[in-house]
Amino acid sequence: SKSTIGLIPADGIGREVIPAARDVLEAVAPNKFNFVHLDAGFEHFQKTGVALPDETVERLKGECAGALFGAVSSPSHKVAGYSSPIVALRKKMDLYANVRPVASPVGATGTPIDMLIIRENTECLYIKSERLETLPDGTKIAWADRKITETASKRIGRMAFRMALQRGAIREARRARGETVAWEGKPRVTVVHKSNVLSVSDGLFRESVLSVRNGEDKAFKDDVDLEEQLVDSMVYRMFREPHKFDVAVAPNLYGDIISDGAAALVGSLGVVASANVGDSFVLGEPVHGSAPDIAGRGIANPVAAIRSAALLLEHMGLDAEATRIHSAVDKVLSEQAAILTPDLGGKGTTRGVTDAVIKAL
Ligand code: NAI
Ligand code: MG
Repeated sequence: SKSTIGLIPADGIGREVIPAARDVLEAVAPNKFNFVHLDAGFEHFQKTGVALPDETVERLKGECAGALFGAVSSPSHKVAGYSSPIVALRKKMDLYANVRPVASPVGATGTPIDMLIIRENTECLYIKSERLETLPDGTKIAWADRKITETASKRIGRMAFRMALQRGAIREARRARGETVAWEGKPRVTVVHKSNVLSVSDGLFRESVLSVRNGEDKAFKDDVDLEEQLVDSMVYRMFREPHKFDVAVAPNLYGDIISDGAAALVGSLGVVASANVGDSFVLGEPVHGSAPDIAGRGIANPVAAIRSAALLLEHMGLDAEATRIHSAVDKVLSEQAAILTPDLGGKGTTRGVTDAVIKAL
């Protein structure tokens, strides 16, 4: 049913921040959601030998409109039979886009940052087609294949243009309400690639995204500006003038790197949210890991998970509820420094921040 949301806390602080996000969802729309608790993770693997039970995937596909994932612990040594359930979930649910908003903390000085990074989630070097060869002289050589398809590149390009238009519309609405909006002019999509060197693979990515702009939806061309950026200078510009980006779209590897880098521009890992998006399903996911150093102490910052819940609602078409959650979080972050968790310099707890957000709603 439309309003069923899967909850997969998985490991470590995932078990603390996902219940916090659930409480906020319940508060923003009482009785609208039906929550289903599902297993996955390294701890589950240690107990049962399975990291991602079939039942979890089946119930997500059969019952849920979307889901929230906490975090998994991945051992740094290879453990036989274990592979990351979040990577498997993205694949099994065809969540082909990883969407990460990067925005200045509330009350920050200087030109506000408000960018959205869209990373292709299914191919590129992450198809993990690697092999090791030993040369006749005994030295080793490692190879990795990189896969870029026209279909996946076009579909990620389409999502970038769609989201750029959507962000433009939201900015217009805010301006109409008399709010200050820093971004001037049309929405903009920045295509990130390195086709000056990798003219075949990055070349196909670039061409495919560009072709979407000239294709089916006239608004993609008329109402969205397009910019290209080589990935190395993208990093340079992002650190020098992050406020000059709106939506950036990149192949998997570049997107992974620039999106973690961009998160550092806006502060603690405990506040950065993401969503894994497919055509018919969305999985919200805080960017941080399972944080074993603080797990079990009730001091994990729930903001990243709460904002991931808001992203989930946005992609489910519940924009008003999503906006209310973001505003409530902004209010708590800007007005209640004392109750914030230690990663943000406060003395507060997961519960305290969650209750404050619910009150601010
Ligand atoms: P991490 O994100 O778990 O922690 C890095 C640092 O940030 C730690 O000091 C932690 O206490 C702090 N931190 C993270 N989230 C926080 C929050 N919500 N509130 C307050 N402080 C927070 O990354 P780390 O330590 O590299 O990895 C720990 C485990 O998590 C590993 O097993 C790793 O494989 C896994 N991991 C999983 C991810 C996922 O599920 N998508 C992503 C990154 C790491
Ligand atoms: Mg990463």
